[in-house]
Amino acid sequence: MPDRYAVIGNPISHSKSPQIHAEFALQTCQSLEYSRLLGDLTNFNGDVRQFFANAGRGLNVTVPFKAQAWALADERSPQAELAGAVNTLTQLPNGRLRGDNTDGVGLVRDLSRNHGFELRGAQVLLLGAGGAARGVIQPLLEASVAQLVVANRTAVKAVELAAQFAPIGAVRGCGLEALAGRQFDLIINATSAGLSDAVPAIPAECLTAGGWIYDMLYSDQCTAFQRWGQTHGAARALDGLGMLVEQAAESFWLWRGVRPDTAPIITQLRGTAA
Ligand code: ATR
Repeated sequence: MPDRYAVIGNPISHSKSPQIHAEFALQTCQSLEYSRLLGDLTNFNGDVRQFFANAGRGLNVTVPFKAQAWALADERSPQAELAGAVNTLTQLPNGRLRGDNTDGVGLVRDLSRNHGFELRGAQVLLLGAGGAARGVIQPLLEASVAQLVVANRTAVKAVELAAQFAPIGAVRGCGLEALAGRQFDLIINATSAGLSDAVPAIPAECLTAGGWIYDMLYSDQCTAFQRWGQTHGAARALDGLGMLVEQAAESFWLWRGVRPDTAPIITQLRGTAA
């Protein structure tokens, strides 16, 4: 019987993870099965326990369960610990559940390897102070950005979030209005504003000439923030599809010990987006 893996979330029918992991398995000649699990909003822990009791080997965890997965894990990677969220659960040979967070690695790989953005020395603005933002702060700091500013509609949340990471790098938090007159080489949108086709209210001058924007959301069309970037002269306006594939590749590596080639599936997903 092939090893069992799945992605759990609610809703889950839209998830591209089964297609991504099927491609990785094919490419690396691994025998595994990867399915979608609709998590019970009131019994996430029960669903996870049942999956692993039925010979499950690993789970990807998505909205809205990442914080619950963090709490459920018996042990956590340093990235997951700091992120306060787990997107990858693995059953260890001793039966304990290990929690990892591969989202931040996925973002950094997509930006630097797939697109060639030089994070080292860059002035980076991260918009949002929820779970999505929290998950990528440490990897961005470890990529040696010159400064990371976390800006949020509700300023106090950004200030508090940045303060937690201050011991490991140059990061500070503020409200959106405090961005007036500041300029950044890269603006990353980690807010959920795009879900209602909105963009955070940031000053137009925030993006330096030749600067890039990155929306952690992805869409078959341009996202609202990509359109903002194009309107405000971004040299590149990227969506989060590459991040999705890269975080999946990191999970695959944690589970199977092999690194798949991400380029073919990114091309495939762009081509089949409908
Ligand atoms: P997630 O886990 O996806 O990060 P979240 O924890 O609900 O979701 O956080 C959503 C983030 O998007 C928050 O930073 C939120 O700002 P507030 O803290 O002020 O609520 C931000 N956000 C949502 N809609 C927004 C909008 N229209 N403009 C600006 N920021 C928005």
